[in-house]
Amino acid sequence: MTSNKDQAGVQSGQPAAPAHAERSEWFTEARFGLYIHWGLYALGARHEWMQSREFRSSEDYGKYFRHFDPDLYDPAKWAKLASAAGMKYMVVTAKHHEGFCLWDSELTDYKATNTPYGKDLLRPMLEAFRAEGVRTGLYYSLLDWHHPDYTLDVKHPMRYNKDYAALDAQRNWSNYVDYMHGQTRELLTDYGDVDVLFLDFSIPAEEGFPGKGKEEWQSERYVEMVRSLQPNTLINDRLGVPGDITTPEQYQPREWIKIDGKPVLWEACHTFSGSWGYYRDEESWKSTEQVLRMLIDTVSKGGNFLLNVGPNARGELDERAVERLEEIGVWMRKHSRSIHGCTAAPAELPPCPEDCRFTYDPKRHRLYLHLFAWPFKQLHLAGFSGLVDYAQLLDDASEIRMVEGERKLTMEAGAFDEGRPANMLTLQLPVKKPKAAIPVIELMLKK
Ligand code: GLC
Repeated sequence: MTSNKDQAGVQSGQPAAPAHAERSEWFTEARFGLYIHWGLYALGARHEWMQSREFRSSEDYGKYFRHFDPDLYDPAKWAKLASAAGMKYMVVTAKHHEGFCLWDSELTDYKATNTPYGKDLLRPMLEAFRAEGVRTGLYYSLLDWHHPDYTLDVKHPMRYNKDYAALDAQRNWSNYVDYMHGQTRELLTDYGDVDVLFLDFSIPAEEGFPGKGKEEWQSERYVEMVRSLQPNTLINDRLGVPGDITTPEQYQPREWIKIDGKPVLWEACHTFSGSWGYYRDEESWKSTEQVLRMLIDTVSKGGNFLLNVGPNARGELDERAVERLEEIGVWMRKHSRSIHGCTAAPAELPPCPEDCRFTYDPKRHRLYLHLFAWPFKQLHLAGFSGLVDYAQLLDDASEIRMVEGERKLTMEAGAFDEGRPANMLTLQLPVKKPKAAIPVIELMLKK
């Protein structure tokens, strides 16, 4: 059988560093992470793109900088909640597109230490998560709507401002590139182990505006710098050059993501609602069960799931997120065995039945059957007769009895022959759905 490590190791165009499969082993084991989008947009509380959507100048937007004071900030609470939810890593926006920095960067004044709050927000956060055994990653925006040398593009808040555009030719792009490379150097030098670097993003040329990509970011040189500072850091794929992790956003793929026909290391990132930053009035929140289904679906396709929270301007997580994370924790306490260290079922196994997802633990040779819809008593697994040694409900380790092969099923009303194929395995389920949000049956496969 093929393990996820073998498959994930096949990655096209990998930059040289410790072997990819080796560097990414913890990542595929982890499977579930917390994304944190936090910045000045938390005050506006209406999407992290508000500066661009509302065409706001840096001066005008600066009012949030002058009032940023997250007095209830307690990252230890976030870290405990994430860890209890079964999250094994986090990725936080050190800087988002607005340009505001959570850390005490020497290269800008636009940082947390210069707000009324007056302290570095990043360092205590990374320390708190590491103290809980959660690995730490950083998101760094390639876009910057505050830096004076950052030129116009189709995403820039000032894109339709003629006076601003008139000065574009005088902007010194290489100053910005130095800034971006320099800030990354700071983060990779002074903030401990950075397990993931999530860079966001390359911009297509549109509406007469030039794009920004590999050339503009000086991506090859950038990746070399990252590798030389922290050779184990996993880099995402938005720099315009091949990265370590492919990162579809708000999208559940049909199958294991492939590049040039080869399965790659991938991670789906998702919000609870429609925004990454705190959005007070947004109501399209996914239910806990829906999020769990997405997590399971992702792992069943060999991917990781990065679930976002947008803390508010008092420094607290949205109550709606807290409630859901706690509920996820309730499920994960009993079912993390079907997530951590698991991957897609081996291709040579028969297909998964309808409304279900398989995940597979290659080390213990166990298959996990997640039931998205609870059937009536019998669940038929075509092709599985003879493959399973023992089956149990993961929730309480209660045996799930199996009927295999051509045998007649025995009912109270007598025996009948429904023409079962010889390769059929039927699981005898309780009529009543167990309490778990998503019930899981653990199938111990024969060696
Ligand atoms: C994006 C968005 C953004 C968000 C992110 C999440 O491309 O610009 O606001 O931070 O992806 O991955």
